[in-house]
Amino acid sequence: MDPIVARNRTDLIKARGDGSVALVPTMGALHEGHRSLIRAARSRADHVVVSIFVNPLQFGPGEDFSRYPRTFEADLEVCRAEGVEVVFAPAAEDMYHPDRQVSLRSGEMGRVVEGAVRPGHFDGMLTVVLKLFNLVQPDLAVFGQKDAQQLALIRRMVADLDVPVEIVGAPTVREPDGLALSSRNRYLSPADREVALALSRALRAGAAESVPSRVIAAAREVLEAAAPELALDYVVLVDPATFAEVAEPYTGEAVLAVAGRVGTTRLIDNAVLSF
Ligand code: PAF
Repeated sequence: MDPIVARNRTDLIKARGDGSVALVPTMGALHEGHRSLIRAARSRADHVVVSIFVNPLQFGPGEDFSRYPRTFEADLEVCRAEGVEVVFAPAAEDMYHPDRQVSLRSGEMGRVVEGAVRPGHFDGMLTVVLKLFNLVQPDLAVFGQKDAQQLALIRRMVADLDVPVEIVGAPTVREPDGLALSSRNRYLSPADREVALALSRALRAGAAESVPSRVIAAAREVLEAAAPELALDYVVLVDPATFAEVAEPYTGEAVLAVAGRVGTTRLIDNAVLSF
């Protein structure tokens, strides 16, 4: 069955059936990773709503907002194939009124690691996610572990602001050669793609070590070997809940997070390690 396309709050209210609702927030350009989020949502709720909205608030000046892939018809096809009941695809004018004043601040946790490279990104991301929660009113929402800091911040927002939505994290989906799926992979030339593999290779090299400082050193060595084609933004080992860097000695889980630029394409990846 074709999904109902809802453009605003009124459409959403009409489209909402009885039973539990799972939301999968996306910016479109849907790939196999999104399909896995949709399937995780489908296994946990009666109805699945996928939102497709390229959120201008989470892009900084000079970032790829205007060229971000917009593939609505193909996205609808993915949603149809996955049995999604409702696709929420609002227009930017409906999401953000010109006179709006209030938005969310992600705090210290949103200013480190990815937030240090993309100032304001997490404030814009949290603002749209909270708006989507308020509009769709889901019982649960599914986000990919690939954006580990985003997932941690959303969990934190829900806890700090008592938002009644269960947050489900879903594992990163990878190509057979290790490249994490991302809507931005379609910017990569075949040569860029080879260089981009250094990110997942670095995670594997880090994961083979057992002490935090050696984890970082092993990952860094792989990433530095891919320079200058790969411009490294960071390689860090952080607490999964706070994104503060872990100090030795350390026991528990930690996220090894890497990010860099290949040509004009910025890529991130991470692995959860146990110490
Ligand atoms: O992960 C994304 O695609 C976006 O950051 C999200 C969660 C849909 C908010 O715009």
